[in-house]
Amino acid sequence: MTSLTLGIETSCDDTGVALLKSESRGDAWESESRGDALGKRTILCELLSSQIKDHARFGGVVPEFAARKHLENLLPLVDAALREGGVKGRDLDLIAVTCGPGLMGSLIVGVMAARALAQAWGVPLIGVNHLEGHLFAPLVDAEDLEPPFLSLIVSGGHTEIVRVDALGKYRLLGQTRDDAAGEAYDKAARVLGLPYPGGPEIDRLAKDGDPHAFDFPIPLKNTKEVEFSFSGLKTALLWQVRKMEEEGKPLPLNDLCASFQRAVTEALVAKVALAVRLTGIRRVAASGGVAANSALRAALTESREARHWKAWLPRPGRCTDNAVMIAMAGRCAWERGVRSPADLSPDPSLEIA
Ligand code: KG4
Ligand code: ZN
Repeated sequence: MTSLTLGIETSCDDTGVALLKSESRGDAWESESRGDALGKRTILCELLSSQIKDHARFGGVVPEFAARKHLENLLPLVDAALREGGVKGRDLDLIAVTCGPGLMGSLIVGVMAARALAQAWGVPLIGVNHLEGHLFAPLVDAEDLEPPFLSLIVSGGHTEIVRVDALGKYRLLGQTRDDAAGEAYDKAARVLGLPYPGGPEIDRLAKDGDPHAFDFPIPLKNTKEVEFSFSGLKTALLWQVRKMEEEGKPLPLNDLCASFQRAVTEALVAKVALAVRLTGIRRVAASGGVAANSALRAALTESREARHWKAWLPRPGRCTDNAVMIAMAGRCAWERGVRSPADLSPDPSLEIA
């Protein structure tokens, strides 16, 4: 049976809308351990309206402004998606919308719009955990990724490793004690006078730098827990920058970026290696904005540690927030029998497990 799902993502500063056509595999739904439970799927349309330029002048996301932008952008994007997909609202089988975690104002816009559209078109609605959405991003294209696997979610708001025993059955193995990895990139960029968001900028400058020029600490590298901490690393960078500024030296931006990026990457990969050792699971998927980072992608696929696992990475454009992952996660949850109330409301601090 073919079904059409409209995905809506508005948890932070990207308005995303996607149209997913999927085929049930019949037997696959029965066995929730199947990673390819969506069978054959086609993304009919994938639209994103990024607010990066709007927020860059403030050096970060301004929540109230983000909500207003979603309000302006969302319905025109839904219209465009339906037009592009050649379908009408009433043809949809499901609307999947991010209901948390995220910024309350941004979430409200998406959830309320989805509720209104669902009611107007007579289509069922499902709320999707944004983190489960990220977890699904590597599953969009990879038909060979099946649970059990480990999911490294590294975004602007989260850094955690989740054990996926089955789709919908998640266990949090560990998370950051303070800043998320993406947040660390964004704060480091600010220290270096680089624009928001910092991750892509540091990634770009690091390409021409020496990752061993500065010996930044690798946070919690050798502890026996799956845990992360990035605030000390950011402070180490800040002290280094201050010292050089006091000495009147020009900042070697490329080397600073490359060294900072190496420290973040080593910290992440060390804990992936630990999680693989502790669980015996040798399938690793990564997602979230920082999974677009070139050094992390290389380390997860080509490093010495990576010989112990196989890694699945979404294409960079699907590491950051998007509605395809929300449509996928929502459709899959619906097929597993998950239902949301018609008066679904957002939860800014929703957890994955
Ligand atoms: O997943 P995402 O789009 O939004 C959240 O759910 O937070 O992640 C955004 C974060 C930002 O902190 C951004 O700086 C970071 O992902 N990011 C990167 C790269 N691209 C985006 N960090 C490092 N390297 C990148 N290439
Ligand atoms: Zn995200």
